[in-house]
Amino acid sequence: MSPDAGWLTRLAEEAVAALHSAVGASGAGRPHVLTGGAAAPAIIAPLVPSGIPGAACSGVPGPESFGLPGADDLRRLLAGIADSRPDPAPAGPVGDAPYYFLDSHGGRWDERSIGLIDGEAHPGFDVQAVRRDFPILAERVNGRPLIWLDNAATTQKPTAVIERLAHFYRHENSNIHRAAHALAGRATDAYEGARETVARFLGAASAQEIVFVRGTTEAINLVAQAWGRHNVGPGDEIVVSLLEHHANIVPWQQLAAERGAHIRVIPVDSRGQICLDAYQKLLSDRTKLVAISQVSNALGTITPVQEVIALAHRVGARVLVDGAQSVAHLAVDVRTLDADFFVFSGHKVFGPTGIGALYGKSEILESMTPWQGGGNMIADVTFERTRYQEPPARFEAGTGNIADAVGLAVALDYLERLGLANVERYEHELLSYGTAVLQSVPGLHLIGTALTKASVLSFVLDGYSPAEVGSALNREGIAVRAGHHCAQPIVRHFGHEATVRPSLAFYNTRAELDALAAVLRRLAKGRRTPTASGP
Ligand code: ALA
Repeated sequence: MSPDAGWLTRLAEEAVAALHSAVGASGAGRPHVLTGGAAAPAIIAPLVPSGIPGAACSGVPGPESFGLPGADDLRRLLAGIADSRPDPAPAGPVGDAPYYFLDSHGGRWDERSIGLIDGEAHPGFDVQAVRRDFPILAERVNGRPLIWLDNAATTQKPTAVIERLAHFYRHENSNIHRAAHALAGRATDAYEGARETVARFLGAASAQEIVFVRGTTEAINLVAQAWGRHNVGPGDEIVVSLLEHHANIVPWQQLAAERGAHIRVIPVDSRGQICLDAYQKLLSDRTKLVAISQVSNALGTITPVQEVIALAHRVGARVLVDGAQSVAHLAVDVRTLDADFFVFSGHKVFGPTGIGALYGKSEILESMTPWQGGGNMIADVTFERTRYQEPPARFEAGTGNIADAVGLAVALDYLERLGLANVERYEHELLSYGTAVLQSVPGLHLIGTALTKASVLSFVLDGYSPAEVGSALNREGIAVRAGHHCAQPIVRHFGHEATVRPSLAFYNTRAELDALAAVLRRLAKGRRTPTASGP
């Protein structure tokens, strides 16, 4: 597609958003994170530097959709609408916008029923009490209270997890060979119990469908090697989205190079939403695998994985869902999704580092050969041949990360006790609030304005590099990630090499977002140059 056409698509989307504002449209297509319809163009407009290659979704309206002959007419229409827009609504909770988190549960959150009097009160969810479960949140950095807004990089750990690790090493530490002695029995029970917990958390049919791994990256590499090498051949295609983290790109590139296969990329629109029509056109009987994130780590876009999976299955392809950024924010049920593989990291869901899980449908795991050889994964070894264990042991060569698997289970129990539905409601409100307060900072441009988002508020600030903004925030005790977020293709798609990325969890508060915005406003006031955001 030519840059012109990309520009036109974005302009058309802007016009649609503006029309929604002008006529007070509401309903399923309305952005939930934007306070009042008028906010949509205000966010989108700065994100449309000319010449940035754009991905068009078929079905996106052009000038003809408005009965207009050309782009200039659409531009004039847009200008007229912009003039008649109502004033932006004040920063605050979204009014009657649809609640993306709750739709999947059939519920709907009514803010009025919970009395947001102090701005942080939620029924069944006392954020101040929750914060006391996380000792690190009382830390001071540069003389200021720590404000942890780097949850997409890693989450903090509740005392329950920290104490469980200590308990394991004090009372249970052993390798897992149940019959050998008492501590081996305790360690084995704890480790296999953790597998049961992960299975329940993901809605798997059985604990045998859960393989412990170091994290999402290792899980994807495992699938690429143990499944991909035997199921992807010359001329076959692997479909990924433009949103993907490098961990969900590079292993597939390596596999494609080794097997003579090709990578196909699902485009995204100017909000950072995948284009389902274009995706459907990519699918064919050559498609062997679709690998897609449920939530984008760089933008926060929630992707329609259930539809993605259903469409892939129609052409006989398998689907791997990267849940690294979703499991801490959304309730996941792998059987409802009908995912073939689902992968996540423990440290992004309030558990320890160095542990994660691969879910695979049992019939698929059973069909796969091991990717690493060694102890634990064998049933019998002679110098002539080796018989392997059934899954999941077949894929867990060597001594695993026993203590951290046990710690992960406690993190998942903790999250389940809080209630994913409570977390989803609270985070939805917080993300809406954060969107509004960041929008109010002069010269700040949000990157990624999908209609359904979780946790992430990526942005650039005129006059400052993301690294400069990150340093300024750090001086105030505020931790964010500034960089390409291991997702260079999608960051570059928006015309940047880096962004500033605050990312939220259920223990964050409005007051923390106010503190973030205050520093950004101060920076904006002292801006050296009126333009030039960049790496
Ligand atoms: N994948 C992690 C992030 O998004 C490291 O920051």
